[in-house]
Amino acid sequence: MRRSPLVAALVIALTGAACANPAPPRQPIPFSHRIHAGVNKIGCQMCHAYAAHSPVAGIPSMARCFGCHKFVARDNKYVQLVVQTYLKGKVLAWNRVYRVPDHVFFTHERHIAAGLRCQTCHGEVEAMDVVRQASPLTMGWCVDCHRQRKAPTDCLTCHK
Ligand code: HEC
Ligand code: HEC
Ligand code: HEC
Ligand code: HEC
Ligand code: HEC
Repeated sequence: MRRSPLVAALVIALTGAACANPAPPRQPIPFSHRIHAGVNKIGCQMCHAYAAHSPVAGIPSMARCFGCHKFVARDNKYVQLVVQTYLKGKVLAWNRVYRVPDHVFFTHERHIAAGLRCQTCHGEVEAMDVVRQASPLTMGWCVDCHRQRKAPTDCLTCHK
């Protein structure tokens, strides 16, 4: 059923825009950014290694987890699961939190080169036990920032 735009605007006004973002998806094991990027200050690009050089930021491989967890926190039951999964040659299937539709072209590389911080679009991830969507990912969200920062706003920038 489609809500009228007026009702939709009222719902957003009454509940706060943040509530319009979807609930985070289930993950195969609890993975905490607060513990990794916050408490232990592991840099974002240590795990999301492609962000500065490609369209995608990249999700770390099981080998990357094992690189630390062959030593670190081996008594934790989830770490044991991570290590076993890696040694069996299997992967944990992480579910996506952020996604734009297929007809939209987005690239990390250009945004990182322009000096934007990860947190500008993804929120204070280092404080989150569970990553949740912190930006609406609407066309208006993209275009507003492009206008403010004098980045291109012609349709073909984002729609190929
Ligand atoms: C650069 C090193 C490093 C990498 C890479 C790394 N971790 Fe960790 N991880 C840590 C440290 C440090 C802790 C905290 C250990 C402690 O507090 O005893 C931790 C803790 C954990 C915990 C236990 C959290 C808790 O509740 O105490 C889990 C589960 C975990 N990591 C999973 C992963 C997974 C999955 C990956 C790969 C996607 C990964 N880690 C990659 C360093 C790393
Ligand atoms: C130790 C490795 C590690 C570090 C450090 C790390 N991440 Fe992650 N990140 C992951 C893993 C594993 C996932 C997939 C599981 C999840 O969504 O929680 C993920 C997921 C994400 C997602 C959601 C991706 C999607 O759409 O599914 C974002 C956004 C993100 N990380 C941003 C950051 C930022 C920003 C930092 C630095 C403040 C950071 N990460 C540091 C391992 C890491
Ligand atoms: C200008 C906004 C913006 C900035 C800055 C940004 N991201 Fe993203 N990120 C997005 C959008 C939009 C998506 C969804 C892209 C898609 O569906 O193709 C995304 C997706 C992701 C994903 C999941 C898919 C993937 O690319 O692997 C991860 C992980 C991620 N971002 C991490 C980061 C990290 C780490 C940084 C900083 C180094 C960062 N992002 C900076 C907007 C941003
Ligand atoms: C917080 C600000 C901000 C947000 C949000 C943002 N962008 Fe950008 N975008 C920029 C800046 C700054 C540049 C760099 C322009 C440059 O290199 O001169 C850029 C560049 C780009 C480029 C490369 C343009 C080219 O010249 O080829 C694409 C594609 C793009 N953005 C798509 C998107 C999409 C799609 C979204 C939303 C999902 C988005 N952006 C959200 C600030 C933003
Ligand atoms: C900076 C990036 C950006 C630019 C520039 C941009 N778009 Fe979009 N557009 C998006 C994103 C992201 C979405 C998907 C999210 C949404 O539907 O709001 C989208 C969605 C759309 C849709 C689908 C809406 C729907 O209901 O499914 C149409 C049609 C569209 N754009 C047309 C245009 C036209 C025409 C222009 C030029 C005047 C343009 N866009 C410029 C990012 C952009």
